[in-house]
Amino acid sequence: MKTVLTYGTFDVLHYGHINLLKRAKALGDYLIVGLSSDEFNALKNKKSFYSYEHRKLILEAIKYVDLVIPEDTWEQKVSDVKKYSVDVFVMGDDWEGKFDFLSEYCEVSYLPRTPDISSTMVRNQPPHLISNYSDEIS
Ligand code: CTP
Repeated sequence: MKTVLTYGTFDVLHYGHINLLKRAKALGDYLIVGLSSDEFNALKNKKSFYSYEHRKLILEAIKYVDLVIPEDTWEQKVSDVKKYSVDVFVMGDDWEGKFDFLSEYCEVSYLPRTPDISSTMVRNQPPHLISNYSDEIS
């Protein structure tokens, strides 16, 4: 079995996230998402609309996701990779190069971000404009 690991906040889940999760899962058989805790987000100066528990509930309902674990620190990646016998570490290419140090332990892959969509954009958008997003589901 090939295990894939990715990390993120995944607030107000959108089609860019789904595209990422779908392609991440396709790289193996079992997809683990390290979900940034509210405390870790605060450390990163980020504030999500949904709480950790609600973001976890939503992610667990996605068919590509097999397990959600908390991301509490920047340093936990090596121990998570070892603990879960991860074969592939994957992130969107906004993180290109940032996690190359993990290639000592597993394959590292950066996937192209879906253009023109982010949680920040959805959170800041007046509701009547949200339906204007083009359908970029692939
Ligand atoms: N992602 C993606 N395409 C997008 C948005 C996000 O592929 N349009 C990927 C990111 O590269 C990351 C994962 O989804 O690997 C989780 O990203 P996250 O930071 O939670 O999503 P954003 O929408 O970028 O959130 P924010 O606006 O809060 O930064």
